[in-house]
Amino acid sequence: MPVYTVSHVSNIRICVVMVGLPARGKSFISQRIVRYLSWLSIKAKSFNVGNYRREKKSHPNAEFFDSHNEDGLKIRKEAAVEAVKDMMKFFQDELGVVAILDATNSTKERRDWILKLCRENSIEPMFLESWCDDDSIITKNIMDVKTSSPDYLGQDPELAAKDFIKRISKYKETYEPLEVETNKDLTFIKLINVSEQVIINKIETYLESRIVYYVMNLHIKPRSIYLSRHGESMYNLEGKIGGDADLSERGWKYAQKLPELVKKVLKSEEHDDYDDDDDTDIKLTVWTSTLKRTQQTASYLPYDKLQWKALDELDAGACDGLTYEEIELQFPQDFKERDENKYEYRYRGGESYRDVVIRLEPIIMELELQENILIITHQAILRCIYAYFMNIPQEESPWMSIPLHTLIKLEPRAFKTIVERIKADIPAVSTYKEKGTSQLGEIEDINNKSKNLITGAPLR
Ligand code: SIN
Repeated sequence: MPVYTVSHVSNIRICVVMVGLPARGKSFISQRIVRYLSWLSIKAKSFNVGNYRREKKSHPNAEFFDSHNEDGLKIRKEAAVEAVKDMMKFFQDELGVVAILDATNSTKERRDWILKLCRENSIEPMFLESWCDDDSIITKNIMDVKTSSPDYLGQDPELAAKDFIKRISKYKETYEPLEVETNKDLTFIKLINVSEQVIINKIETYLESRIVYYVMNLHIKPRSIYLSRHGESMYNLEGKIGGDADLSERGWKYAQKLPELVKKVLKSEEHDDYDDDDDTDIKLTVWTSTLKRTQQTASYLPYDKLQWKALDELDAGACDGLTYEEIELQFPQDFKERDENKYEYRYRGGESYRDVVIRLEPIIMELELQENILIITHQAILRCIYAYFMNIPQEESPWMSIPLHTLIKLEPRAFKTIVERIKADIPAVSTYKEKGTSQLGEIEDINNKSKNLITGAPLR
């Protein structure tokens, strides 16, 4: 049950109306917003008008987008009407909170039409323009489109690129950007060359401001995020949860081996600035929690380090320091309730996964802004961070297996995140608990989706 359905946020419904020429990253921004809001349990969905148009016209050439092409205009309008109709259904039937109308919406006439519909249906319109004249960004987007757009499926990539450039020039003929002088009363955000400059106008609600802040932090520079749990701890050996234990002997071995693992993955990226003799040349920052086991794990790494309280393990409250067997004996009802709904269950005097996600929001914001980061933290925290990047639903994320002594590399790309797992080959206990048992350990079950993390297949 999402926390922020319409009824929970004082009936707020927002339609984010994307604006911009083709190849300005509108779909990228739309999908990122949906992923971010969904992770925060805010019901959000993107409606891509191009997908609706493709149902009627699958491989149009640039002429189809000419403003004098009557047939093209008719089909494009029908596609927009259908997308808006589904969007309204999303608000009414699915209690959606944020819908994104992912289209060029490049003329004032089109935007006025959407504005009117939003006002008639008590939906807050928020325009989000991506304006860009940086040739390197545009060229990169054109390259992505020519190889990945269903519009050009099976076509020669060079011809596809040429046609797409022509399509952009067709749109340019009628494009009316958002200007503050003429749109003083509209709620809008205008991103210039991704986030080089941002114009914000009339942002009124908290949710709008979260969206604004999020898109301002987005960048498109290539980078990787590395995740690792702390090395095996003394508590792990005893099967206890929580606490602030030291590393075990094998945990220390992992800490000693981690610099070599990190160096290997960084090297494989062939950073231009990499100097083989000096690890500190590589720009990487290590984030740990404030607990000893993460700092001890990071202690041999020759990079800048930052401690975050927000990265501390999920607070087990009254169960801190107990084994799962002890919890089942002492708090049988709680043990059952947690298994039934692990995402929502809050330990007595402690936290739930939902609580953790809320406290991790600043971490996610900062991660979007940063380049290469290595995060050394705890099982529940890594599950939540991983769920954000891999778009994993709440009912699955608390059950994911994230083994000890494994470095995970995440490479966020425009429309997916690539995952690589590097095992340290240092044995460690398993801290994984299946549903319905207090025993620890991985039970091989190929039907269990939560196991995908171990086998290495991207979850989605
Ligand atoms: C499309 O048909 O590909 C997009 C329609 C639009 O947003 O202009």
